[in-house]
Amino acid sequence: MRKPFVAGNWKMNTDGRSGVALAQAIASGSLQQASRKVTVAVCPPFVYLQSVAMALRASSVAVGAQDIYFESNGAFTGEVSASMLKDIGCTYVLCGHSERRHVIGEKDVLINKKVAAAIVGGLLPILCVGELLGEREESKTEEVVTRQMKEGLVGLSDEKVAAVTIAYEPVWAIGTGRTATPQQAQEVHNFIRNLLAEMYDTPLAESIRILYGGSVKPDNAADLMGQQDIDGLLVGGASLKADDFLAIIRAAV
Ligand code: PGA
Repeated sequence: MRKPFVAGNWKMNTDGRSGVALAQAIASGSLQQASRKVTVAVCPPFVYLQSVAMALRASSVAVGAQDIYFESNGAFTGEVSASMLKDIGCTYVLCGHSERRHVIGEKDVLINKKVAAAIVGGLLPILCVGELLGEREESKTEEVVTRQMKEGLVGLSDEKVAAVTIAYEPVWAIGTGRTATPQQAQEVHNFIRNLLAEMYDTPLAESIRILYGGSVKPDNAADLMGQQDIDGLLVGGASLKADDFLAIIRAAV
């Protein structure tokens, strides 16, 4: 009942030409059949969003941004609002990706404002959560994820939360080639779903998609997707190669 969802996070990669070529290869390679069964999105850098959105116009592949600012307009130099992203054809937006939390220094309170602004602006936020290696080693995974979930979603009505996708990305698995085992991931996904049921209610928790991210590759995608509470994949490195990303999409059907 939860439609699988595969999203590619291009991070600060590609250029104008290679980004459009990658988008076109993904669009032409996502089998008609697969795309009906899987939600597919790509998240290019801000500056290429519009050209990628144009290239994907006639396809079923959606476009997402990697970040957003919570104000709608005004004197916020360098920032981009939900209405601007919507205007150029974005559907999704990542909020609180681990690199924004740990490289740029974003805190839960800011991330919460971004999630809320995305929904108000008509975008579908993907709230990213996940623990650092040291936190896992100190058995703090549940504590960290609980804080990120509760603070990231605070103040949102049931109706608004229904627009959210969660991405569980253990920081130690991102870009390291060290994937969480399907069992390790399922354990946290199940914990997140129970937490959502506690915060809202069971039907809502059952309807929210929870993606796994962190060194997802064509050869581990199917095993991860085989877990009951893993509803999709947020793919970094492997989303930059059309063949790998397409293989991951097929594994998610
Ligand atoms: P990775 O990145 O697949 O390269 O580990 C995942 C992510 O950061 O979303």
